[in-house]
Amino acid sequence: MYLGLDIGTSAIKAVLVDDAQSVIATAETPLAISRPQPGFSEQSPEDWWQATLASIDTLKAEQPKALAAVRGIGLSGQMHGAVLLDAFGKVLRPAILWNDGRSSAECRELEERFPALHQVAGNLAFPGFTAPKLMWVRKHEPDLFARMAKVLLPKAYVGFRLTGEMVEEMSDASGTLWLDVGRRDWSDEALAATGMSREHMPRLVEGSAAAGRIKPELAARWGMENPPVLAGGAGDNAAGAIGLGAIGANDAFVSLGTSGVLWATTDRYAPNPQSSVHAFCHAIPATWHQMGVILSAASALGWWANVAKEAPGDLLAPLGDAPKAPSRATFLPYLSGERTPHNDTAIRAAFVGMDHDTGRDELTQAVLEGVSFAFKDCLDALSAAGTRLTQADVIGGGSRSRFWIAVLASVLGIPLNRVEDGERGGAFGAARLARMAATGESPAEICLPPRRLETIEPDPVLQQAYAERHALYKALYPALKGVTS
Ligand code: XUL
Repeated sequence: MYLGLDIGTSAIKAVLVDDAQSVIATAETPLAISRPQPGFSEQSPEDWWQATLASIDTLKAEQPKALAAVRGIGLSGQMHGAVLLDAFGKVLRPAILWNDGRSSAECRELEERFPALHQVAGNLAFPGFTAPKLMWVRKHEPDLFARMAKVLLPKAYVGFRLTGEMVEEMSDASGTLWLDVGRRDWSDEALAATGMSREHMPRLVEGSAAAGRIKPELAARWGMENPPVLAGGAGDNAAGAIGLGAIGANDAFVSLGTSGVLWATTDRYAPNPQSSVHAFCHAIPATWHQMGVILSAASALGWWANVAKEAPGDLLAPLGDAPKAPSRATFLPYLSGERTPHNDTAIRAAFVGMDHDTGRDELTQAVLEGVSFAFKDCLDALSAAGTRLTQADVIGGGSRSRFWIAVLASVLGIPLNRVEDGERGGAFGAARLARMAATGESPAEICLPPRRLETIEPDPVLQQAYAERHALYKALYPALKGVTS
Protein backbone atom coordinates (compact mmCIF):
# COMPACT_ATOMS: atom_id res chain seq x y z
CA MET A 1 0.00 0.00 0.00
CA TYR A 2 1.30 3.48 -0.92
CA LEU A 3 0.17 6.98 0.02
CA GLY A 4 0.34 9.92 -2.40
CA LEU A 5 -0.09 13.47 -1.10
CA ASP A 6 -0.60 16.43 -3.39
CA ILE A 7 0.24 19.76 -1.75
CA GLY A 8 -1.92 21.79 -4.13
CA THR A 9 -2.96 25.42 -4.19
CA SER A 10 -6.69 24.86 -3.70
CA ALA A 11 -6.50 21.69 -1.58
CA ILE A 12 -4.36 18.98 -0.04
CA LYS A 13 -5.31 15.67 -1.63
CA ALA A 14 -4.37 12.24 -0.32
CA VAL A 15 -4.78 8.92 -2.16
CA LEU A 16 -4.19 5.38 -0.96
CA VAL A 17 -3.03 3.09 -3.76
CA ASP A 18 -2.78 -0.70 -3.40
CA ASP A 19 -0.22 -3.09 -4.89
CA ALA A 20 -2.39 -3.54 -8.03
CA GLN A 21 -2.25 0.28 -8.50
CA SER A 22 -5.95 0.70 -7.70
CA VAL A 23 -7.02 3.76 -5.73
CA ILE A 24 -8.52 2.48 -2.45
CA ALA A 25 -9.49 5.79 -0.86
CA THR A 26 -9.05 9.53 -1.31
CA ALA A 27 -9.39 12.50 1.02
CA GLU A 28 -9.23 16.20 0.34
CA THR A 29 -8.94 19.27 2.59
CA PRO A 30 -9.47 22.70 1.00
CA LEU A 31 -7.01 25.60 1.29
CA ALA A 32 -7.44 29.36 0.99
CA ILE A 33 -5.12 31.82 -0.78
CA SER A 34 -4.38 35.23 0.65
CA ARG A 35 -3.84 38.16 -1.73
CA PRO A 36 -2.54 40.92 0.59
CA GLN A 37 -1.88 43.28 -2.36
CA PRO A 38 -2.85 43.15 -6.05
CA GLY A 39 -0.58 40.60 -7.75
CA PHE A 40 0.52 39.05 -4.43
CA SER A 41 -0.39 35.43 -3.64
CA GLU A 42 0.48 33.76 -0.33
CA GLN A 43 -0.41 30.76 1.84
CA SER A 44 0.55 29.71 5.34
CA PRO A 45 2.80 26.60 5.42
CA GLU A 46 1.14 25.69 8.72
CA ASP A 47 -2.19 25.48 6.84
CA TRP A 48 -0.62 22.94 4.42
CA TRP A 49 0.58 20.89 7.35
CA GLN A 50 -2.73 20.97 9.22
CA ALA A 51 -4.61 20.08 6.01
CA THR A 52 -2.15 17.23 5.37
CA LEU A 53 -2.79 15.85 8.85
CA ALA A 54 -6.55 16.26 8.38
CA SER A 55 -6.47 14.41 5.03
CA ILE A 56 -4.44 11.50 6.39
CA ASP A 57 -6.62 11.36 9.52
CA THR A 58 -9.68 11.09 7.22
CA LEU A 59 -8.07 8.13 5.46
CA LYS A 60 -7.39 6.60 8.86
CA ALA A 61 -11.05 6.92 9.83
CA GLU A 62 -12.18 5.34 6.53
CA GLN A 63 -9.47 2.75 5.85
CA PRO A 64 -7.47 2.15 9.04
CA LYS A 65 -6.05 -1.22 7.93
CA ALA A 66 -5.01 -0.01 4.49
CA LEU A 67 -3.37 3.11 5.94
CA ALA A 68 -1.50 1.03 8.51
CA ALA A 69 -0.09 -1.08 5.65
CA VAL A 70 1.51 1.91 3.85
CA ARG A 71 5.19 1.22 3.00
CA GLY A 72 5.95 4.43 1.15
CA ILE A 73 4.68 8.01 0.99
CA GLY A 74 5.22 10.32 -1.98
CA LEU A 75 4.65 14.05 -2.34
CA SER A 76 3.47 16.07 -5.29
CA GLY A 77 3.45 19.83 -4.88
CA GLN A 78 2.47 23.19 -6.26
CA MET A 79 5.78 24.40 -7.66
CA HIS A 80 8.00 27.46 -7.18
CA GLY A 81 6.63 28.69 -3.80
CA ALA A 82 9.17 30.03 -1.29
CA VAL A 83 9.02 28.83 2.33
CA LEU A 84 11.63 30.68 4.41
CA LEU A 85 12.88 28.96 7.56
CA ASP A 86 15.18 30.20 10.32
CA ALA A 87 18.01 28.15 11.82
CA PHE A 88 15.50 26.35 14.08
CA GLY A 89 13.23 25.32 11.19
CA LYS A 90 10.64 27.96 12.13
CA VAL A 91 8.66 29.55 9.27
CA LEU A 92 9.60 33.24 8.93
CA ARG A 93 6.77 34.59 6.74
CA PRO A 94 3.81 33.34 4.66
CA ALA A 95 4.94 31.36 1.61
CA ILE A 96 5.07 33.38 -1.62
CA LEU A 97 3.36 31.25 -4.27
CA TRP A 98 3.88 30.29 -7.94
CA ASN A 99 1.20 32.74 -9.12
CA ASP A 100 2.63 35.73 -7.25
CA GLY A 101 3.81 38.50 -9.57
CA ARG A 102 5.65 40.89 -7.23
CA SER A 103 9.21 40.22 -8.38
CA SER A 104 9.37 41.46 -12.01
CA ALA A 105 12.11 44.01 -11.23
CA GLU A 106 14.16 41.31 -9.49
CA CYS A 107 13.87 39.07 -12.58
CA ARG A 108 15.51 41.76 -14.69
CA GLU A 109 18.25 42.23 -12.06
CA LEU A 110 18.90 38.47 -11.90
CA GLU A 111 19.28 38.20 -15.68
CA GLU A 112 21.72 41.15 -15.65
CA ARG A 113 23.76 39.78 -12.75
CA PHE A 114 23.98 36.24 -14.13
CA PRO A 115 23.88 36.32 -17.93
CA ALA A 116 24.42 32.52 -18.16
CA LEU A 117 21.16 31.98 -16.24
CA HIS A 118 19.17 30.95 -19.32
CA GLN A 119 21.65 28.25 -20.30
CA VAL A 120 22.25 26.95 -16.76
CA ALA A 121 18.70 27.10 -15.39
CA GLY A 122 16.98 26.39 -18.74
CA ASN A 123 14.46 29.15 -18.28
CA LEU A 124 13.82 32.87 -18.41
CA ALA A 125 13.57 34.54 -15.01
CA PHE A 126 9.82 34.42 -14.34
CA PRO A 127 8.41 36.23 -11.29
CA GLY A 128 6.57 33.01 -10.43
CA PHE A 129 9.87 31.18 -9.90
CA THR A 130 11.60 31.02 -6.52
CA ALA A 131 14.92 32.89 -6.87
CA PRO A 132 13.44 36.32 -7.75
CA LYS A 133 11.08 36.00 -4.76
CA LEU A 134 14.10 35.72 -2.46
CA MET A 135 15.68 38.77 -4.11
CA TRP A 136 12.43 40.62 -3.38
CA VAL A 137 12.56 39.55 0.29
CA ARG A 138 16.21 40.60 0.49
CA LYS A 139 15.31 44.06 -0.81
CA HIS A 140 12.00 44.62 1.01
CA GLU A 141 12.37 42.55 4.20
CA PRO A 142 16.15 42.63 4.84
CA ASP A 143 15.96 41.67 8.55
CA LEU A 144 13.95 38.62 7.71
CA PHE A 145 16.31 37.71 4.84
CA ALA A 146 19.23 37.90 7.27
CA ARG A 147 17.51 35.39 9.60
CA MET A 148 16.70 32.99 6.78
CA ALA A 149 18.69 29.72 7.03
CA LYS A 150 16.88 27.53 4.45
CA VAL A 151 14.42 27.95 1.59
CA LEU A 152 12.09 25.05 0.84
CA LEU A 153 9.48 24.51 -1.84
CA PRO A 154 5.95 23.77 -0.56
CA LYS A 155 6.08 19.98 -0.71
CA ALA A 156 9.60 19.88 0.77
CA TYR A 157 8.25 21.81 3.75
CA VAL A 158 5.56 19.16 4.26
CA GLY A 159 8.30 16.51 3.79
CA PHE A 160 10.32 18.26 6.51
CA ARG A 161 7.33 18.09 8.88
CA LEU A 162 6.87 14.40 8.01
CA THR A 163 10.52 13.30 8.40
CA GLY A 164 12.47 16.11 10.09
CA GLU A 165 14.78 16.25 7.05
CA MET A 166 15.14 18.97 4.45
CA VAL A 167 15.28 17.27 1.05
CA GLU A 168 14.27 18.35 -2.47
CA GLU A 169 14.07 16.49 -5.77
CA MET A 170 15.03 17.49 -9.29
CA SER A 171 11.71 18.32 -10.99
CA ASP A 172 10.57 20.86 -8.41
CA ALA A 173 14.12 22.17 -7.85
CA SER A 174 14.18 23.00 -11.59
CA GLY A 175 11.55 25.68 -10.96
CA THR A 176 13.73 27.65 -8.55
CA LEU A 177 16.28 29.04 -11.09
CA TRP A 178 18.99 27.83 -8.66
CA LEU A 179 19.36 24.41 -10.27
CA ASP A 180 21.84 23.57 -13.01
CA VAL A 181 19.12 21.62 -14.85
CA GLY A 182 21.46 19.80 -17.26
CA ARG A 183 23.77 18.64 -14.42
CA ARG A 184 20.98 18.00 -11.89
CA ASP A 185 22.79 19.89 -9.10
CA TRP A 186 22.49 23.30 -7.42
CA SER A 187 24.30 26.04 -9.32
CA ASP A 188 26.68 27.95 -7.05
CA GLU A 189 26.72 30.85 -9.55
CA ALA A 190 22.94 31.16 -9.70
CA LEU A 191 22.76 31.06 -5.89
CA ALA A 192 25.51 33.66 -5.54
CA ALA A 193 23.67 35.98 -7.94
CA THR A 194 20.80 36.10 -5.42
CA GLY A 195 23.05 36.60 -2.38
CA MET A 196 22.72 32.95 -1.31
CA SER A 197 24.72 29.73 -1.20
CA ARG A 198 24.32 25.94 -1.14
CA GLU A 199 23.93 26.22 2.65
CA HIS A 200 20.47 27.69 2.09
CA MET A 201 19.36 24.76 -0.04
CA PRO A 202 18.00 21.34 0.97
CA ARG A 203 19.80 18.13 -0.04
CA LEU A 204 18.88 16.87 -3.54
CA VAL A 205 17.59 13.41 -4.51
CA GLU A 206 15.80 11.99 -7.56
CA GLY A 207 12.00 11.95 -7.21
CA SER A 208 11.82 8.16 -7.30
CA ALA A 209 14.55 7.79 -4.64
CA ALA A 210 14.14 7.72 -0.85
CA ALA A 211 14.35 11.08 0.90
CA GLY A 212 13.88 9.88 4.49
CA ARG A 213 11.57 8.02 6.87
CA ILE A 214 8.35 9.21 8.47
CA LYS A 215 8.81 10.29 12.12
CA PRO A 216 7.95 7.40 14.47
CA GLU A 217 5.32 9.46 16.33
CA LEU A 218 3.46 10.19 13.07
CA ALA A 219 3.70 6.56 11.95
CA ALA A 220 2.22 5.55 15.34
CA ARG A 221 -0.59 8.11 14.95
CA TRP A 222 -1.56 6.45 11.66
CA GLY A 223 -1.20 2.90 13.00
CA MET A 224 1.88 2.08 10.92
CA GLU A 225 4.17 -0.43 12.57
CA ASN A 226 7.25 0.45 10.50
CA PRO A 227 7.73 4.11 9.58
CA PRO A 228 7.27 4.30 5.78
CA VAL A 229 9.87 5.65 3.36
CA LEU A 230 9.27 9.15 2.00
CA ALA A 231 10.13 9.44 -1.70
CA GLY A 232 11.64 12.60 -3.17
CA GLY A 233 8.33 13.12 -5.00
CA ALA A 234 7.73 15.59 -7.83
CA GLY A 235 6.45 19.01 -8.78
CA ASP A 236 2.72 18.67 -9.50
CA ASN A 237 3.17 18.51 -13.27
CA ALA A 238 5.95 15.93 -13.14
CA ALA A 239 3.83 13.93 -10.69
CA GLY A 240 0.92 14.12 -13.16
CA ALA A 241 3.29 12.84 -15.87
CA ILE A 242 4.34 9.88 -13.69
CA GLY A 243 0.64 9.13 -13.10
CA LEU A 244 0.03 9.15 -16.87
CA GLY A 245 3.09 7.08 -17.68
CA ALA A 246 4.57 10.03 -19.63
CA ILE A 247 8.16 8.91 -19.19
CA GLY A 248 9.32 8.42 -22.82
CA ALA A 249 10.49 11.10 -25.26
CA ASN A 250 7.57 13.05 -26.81
CA ASP A 251 4.96 11.62 -24.40
CA ALA A 252 2.67 14.62 -23.93
CA PHE A 253 -0.28 15.88 -21.96
CA VAL A 254 -2.39 18.97 -21.44
CA SER A 255 -3.40 19.78 -17.87
CA LEU A 256 -6.58 21.81 -17.49
CA GLY A 257 -6.09 22.61 -13.81
CA THR A 258 -6.07 25.91 -11.90
CA SER A 259 -3.14 26.76 -14.16
CA GLY A 260 -2.69 25.12 -17.56
CA VAL A 261 0.27 23.08 -18.72
CA LEU A 262 1.33 21.63 -22.05
CA TRP A 263 3.93 18.99 -21.21
CA ALA A 264 6.38 17.03 -23.39
CA THR A 265 8.87 14.51 -21.95
CA THR A 266 12.41 14.76 -23.38
CA ASP A 267 15.33 12.36 -23.13
CA ARG A 268 17.83 15.21 -22.86
CA TYR A 269 18.10 18.72 -21.47
CA ALA A 270 16.59 20.88 -24.25
CA PRO A 271 16.24 24.53 -23.20
CA ASN A 272 14.78 27.26 -25.39
CA PRO A 273 14.09 30.10 -22.96
CA GLN A 274 13.46 32.73 -25.65
CA SER A 275 10.01 31.28 -26.34
CA SER A 276 9.24 31.18 -22.59
CA VAL A 277 9.29 27.38 -22.66
CA HIS A 278 10.31 25.77 -19.38
CA ALA A 279 13.06 23.11 -19.59
CA PHE A 280 13.02 21.10 -16.35
CA CYS A 281 14.22 17.77 -14.97
CA HIS A 282 11.66 14.97 -14.77
CA ALA A 283 11.13 13.18 -11.45
CA ILE A 284 12.98 10.06 -12.65
CA PRO A 285 16.71 9.85 -13.40
CA ALA A 286 18.24 10.96 -16.74
CA THR A 287 14.93 12.32 -18.05
CA TRP A 288 13.80 15.92 -18.60
CA HIS A 289 10.77 17.73 -19.97
CA GLN A 290 9.63 20.87 -21.71
CA MET A 291 6.53 22.69 -20.62
CA GLY A 292 4.46 25.69 -21.64
CA VAL A 293 2.53 27.14 -18.69
CA ILE A 294 -0.52 29.40 -18.70
CA LEU A 295 -1.56 30.91 -15.41
CA SER A 296 -5.36 30.67 -15.76
CA ALA A 297 -6.96 27.55 -17.26
CA ALA A 298 -9.84 25.94 -15.32
CA SER A 299 -9.54 28.93 -12.97
CA ALA A 300 -10.70 31.17 -15.87
CA LEU A 301 -13.90 29.12 -16.06
CA GLY A 302 -14.13 29.29 -12.25
CA TRP A 303 -13.81 33.07 -12.40
CA TRP A 304 -16.53 33.32 -15.09
CA ALA A 305 -18.81 30.98 -13.10
CA ASN A 306 -18.44 33.30 -10.09
CA VAL A 307 -19.31 36.33 -12.18
CA ALA A 308 -22.28 34.53 -13.76
CA LYS A 309 -23.31 33.17 -10.33
CA GLU A 310 -23.57 29.61 -11.67
CA ALA A 311 -21.73 26.37 -11.02
CA PRO A 312 -19.18 25.66 -13.82
CA GLY A 313 -21.08 22.46 -14.72
CA ASP A 314 -24.31 24.42 -15.22
CA LEU A 315 -22.53 26.87 -17.50
CA LEU A 316 -21.07 24.03 -19.57
CA ALA A 317 -24.26 21.97 -19.91
CA PRO A 318 -25.98 24.13 -22.59
CA LEU A 319 -22.89 23.90 -24.83
CA GLY A 320 -23.38 20.15 -25.32
CA ASP A 321 -20.60 17.68 -26.12
CA ALA A 322 -19.67 18.43 -29.72
CA PRO A 323 -17.88 21.64 -30.73
CA LYS A 324 -19.58 24.22 -32.92
CA ALA A 325 -18.52 27.32 -34.84
CA PRO A 326 -16.31 29.64 -32.77
CA SER A 327 -17.96 32.18 -30.51
CA ARG A 328 -18.08 35.66 -32.03
CA ALA A 329 -16.62 36.97 -28.78
CA THR A 330 -12.96 36.46 -27.95
CA PHE A 331 -11.61 36.01 -24.43
CA LEU A 332 -8.00 36.57 -23.40
CA PRO A 333 -7.49 34.57 -20.19
CA TYR A 334 -4.79 36.72 -18.57
CA LEU A 335 -6.53 37.03 -15.18
CA SER A 336 -3.19 36.66 -13.33
CA GLY A 337 -0.90 37.82 -16.15
CA GLU A 338 0.72 35.20 -18.40
CA ARG A 339 3.83 33.04 -18.47
CA THR A 340 4.20 31.21 -21.84
CA PRO A 341 4.69 32.87 -24.29
CA HIS A 342 4.53 36.43 -22.95
CA ASN A 343 6.24 36.36 -19.52
CA ASP A 344 4.05 39.33 -18.54
CA THR A 345 2.75 39.66 -14.97
CA ALA A 346 0.97 42.95 -15.62
CA ILE A 347 -1.24 41.94 -18.55
CA ARG A 348 -4.91 41.40 -17.66
CA ALA A 349 -7.85 39.52 -19.18
CA ALA A 350 -10.47 40.82 -21.61
CA PHE A 351 -13.63 39.94 -23.52
CA VAL A 352 -13.62 41.45 -27.01
CA GLY A 353 -16.19 41.56 -29.81
CA MET A 354 -19.55 41.39 -28.01
CA ASP A 355 -22.81 42.75 -29.41
CA HIS A 356 -26.43 42.99 -28.20
CA ASP A 357 -27.04 39.33 -29.03
CA THR A 358 -24.07 38.02 -27.08
CA GLY A 359 -25.37 35.93 -24.22
CA ARG A 360 -24.05 33.91 -21.34
CA ASP A 361 -23.48 30.67 -23.29
CA GLU A 362 -21.49 32.40 -25.99
CA LEU A 363 -19.28 34.03 -23.37
CA THR A 364 -18.77 30.65 -21.67
CA GLN A 365 -17.71 29.25 -25.03
CA ALA A 366 -15.38 32.23 -25.52
CA VAL A 367 -13.73 31.50 -22.15
CA LEU A 368 -13.05 27.86 -23.13
CA GLU A 369 -11.77 28.98 -26.54
CA GLY A 370 -9.56 31.72 -25.05
CA VAL A 371 -7.85 29.20 -22.75
CA SER A 372 -7.48 26.86 -25.75
CA PHE A 373 -5.82 29.66 -27.77
CA ALA A 374 -3.41 30.21 -24.88
CA PHE A 375 -2.50 26.50 -25.15
CA LYS A 376 -1.98 26.94 -28.91
CA ASP A 377 0.58 29.64 -28.07
CA CYS A 378 2.29 27.06 -25.83
CA LEU A 379 2.25 24.45 -28.61
CA ASP A 380 3.86 26.95 -30.99
CA ALA A 381 6.48 27.75 -28.33
CA LEU A 382 7.29 24.05 -27.88
CA SER A 383 7.55 23.66 -31.67
CA ALA A 384 10.04 26.54 -31.70
CA ALA A 385 11.97 24.57 -29.06
CA GLY A 386 12.19 21.61 -31.45
CA THR A 387 9.36 19.47 -30.08
CA ARG A 388 6.69 18.15 -32.46
CA LEU A 389 3.68 16.73 -30.68
CA THR A 390 1.46 14.27 -32.51
CA GLN A 391 -1.10 13.59 -29.74
CA ALA A 392 -1.63 14.28 -26.03
CA ASP A 393 -3.65 13.09 -23.03
CA VAL A 394 -5.86 15.62 -21.24
CA ILE A 395 -6.06 15.73 -17.44
CA GLY A 396 -7.23 18.10 -14.69
CA GLY A 397 -10.64 19.36 -13.60
CA GLY A 398 -11.38 20.89 -17.03
CA SER A 399 -11.03 17.46 -18.67
CA ARG A 400 -14.53 16.67 -17.35
CA SER A 401 -15.84 18.74 -20.29
CA ARG A 402 -15.82 16.79 -23.57
CA PHE A 403 -16.79 20.00 -25.34
CA TRP A 404 -13.66 21.74 -24.06
CA ILE A 405 -11.38 18.86 -25.11
CA ALA A 406 -12.97 18.85 -28.58
CA VAL A 407 -12.43 22.61 -28.98
CA LEU A 408 -8.84 22.19 -27.79
CA ALA A 409 -8.20 19.36 -30.29
CA SER A 410 -9.34 21.57 -33.18
CA VAL A 411 -7.40 24.60 -31.90
CA LEU A 412 -4.18 22.59 -31.42
CA GLY A 413 -4.68 20.47 -34.53
CA ILE A 414 -3.70 17.22 -32.78
CA PRO A 415 -5.78 14.29 -31.45
CA LEU A 416 -6.43 14.46 -27.71
CA ASN A 417 -7.18 11.51 -25.44
CA ARG A 418 -9.76 11.48 -22.69
CA VAL A 419 -8.32 9.19 -20.04
CA GLU A 420 -9.77 7.20 -17.18
CA ASP A 421 -9.37 9.05 -13.88
CA GLY A 422 -8.13 12.18 -15.64
CA GLU A 423 -8.71 14.21 -12.50
CA ARG A 424 -6.49 12.06 -10.33
CA GLY A 425 -3.79 14.70 -10.43
CA GLY A 426 -0.40 14.58 -8.84
CA ALA A 427 -1.28 12.47 -5.79
CA PHE A 428 -1.49 9.24 -7.81
CA GLY A 429 1.89 9.88 -9.47
CA ALA A 430 3.31 10.65 -6.03
CA ALA A 431 2.10 7.25 -4.80
CA ARG A 432 3.92 5.62 -7.74
CA LEU A 433 7.13 7.46 -6.79
CA ALA A 434 6.62 6.22 -3.22
CA ARG A 435 6.46 2.65 -4.52
CA MET A 436 9.62 3.04 -6.61
CA ALA A 437 11.44 4.48 -3.57
CA ALA A 438 10.20 1.70 -1.29
CA THR A 439 10.72 -1.29 -3.62
CA GLY A 440 13.37 -0.22 -6.12
CA GLU A 441 11.06 -1.12 -9.03
CA SER A 442 11.81 0.75 -12.27
CA PRO A 443 9.76 3.58 -13.85
CA ALA A 444 9.04 1.32 -16.86
CA GLU A 445 7.49 -1.30 -14.57
CA ILE A 446 5.37 1.13 -12.55
CA CYS A 447 4.52 4.09 -14.81
CA LEU A 448 1.95 2.48 -17.10
CA PRO A 449 -0.45 4.64 -19.13
CA PRO A 450 -4.09 4.95 -18.01
CA ARG A 451 -6.94 3.50 -20.03
CA ARG A 452 -7.81 5.87 -22.87
CA LEU A 453 -11.58 6.37 -22.98
CA GLU A 454 -11.75 8.22 -26.27
CA THR A 455 -9.50 9.96 -28.79
CA ILE A 456 -10.97 13.21 -30.05
CA GLU A 457 -9.62 14.16 -33.49
CA PRO A 458 -9.45 17.77 -34.71
CA ASP A 459 -12.37 18.72 -36.97
CA PRO A 460 -10.83 20.02 -40.27
CA VAL A 461 -13.52 22.68 -40.79
CA LEU A 462 -13.31 23.97 -37.24
CA GLN A 463 -9.53 23.77 -37.34
CA GLN A 464 -9.52 26.34 -40.16
CA ALA A 465 -12.05 28.57 -38.37
CA TYR A 466 -10.05 28.39 -35.14
CA ALA A 467 -6.77 29.13 -36.95
CA GLU A 468 -8.35 32.43 -38.10
CA ARG A 469 -9.62 33.20 -34.58
CA HIS A 470 -6.22 32.38 -33.11
CA ALA A 471 -4.62 34.94 -35.43
CA LEU A 472 -7.09 37.53 -34.10
CA TYR A 473 -6.39 36.43 -30.52
CA LYS A 474 -2.67 36.91 -31.07
CA ALA A 475 -3.22 40.36 -32.53
CA LEU A 476 -5.17 41.39 -29.42
CA TYR A 477 -2.31 40.84 -26.97
CA PRO A 478 -0.20 43.85 -28.05
CA ALA A 479 -3.33 46.04 -28.08
CA LEU A 480 -4.29 44.85 -24.63
CA LYS A 481 -0.77 45.38 -23.35
CA GLY A 482 -1.17 49.07 -24.10
CA VAL A 483 -4.29 49.42 -21.95
CA THR A 484 -4.07 46.90 -19.11
CA SER A 485 -0.40 46.93 -18.15
C1 XUL B 1 4.34 25.25 -13.19
C2 XUL B 1 3.42 26.09 -12.37
C3 XUL B 1 2.11 25.54 -11.99
C4 XUL B 1 2.10 25.19 -10.55
C5 XUL B 1 0.67 24.94 -10.14
O1 XUL B 1 5.47 25.93 -13.60
O2 XUL B 1 3.71 27.18 -11.99
O3 XUL B 1 1.73 24.44 -12.76
O4 XUL B 1 2.94 24.11 -10.31
O5 XUL B 1 0.59 24.24 -9.00
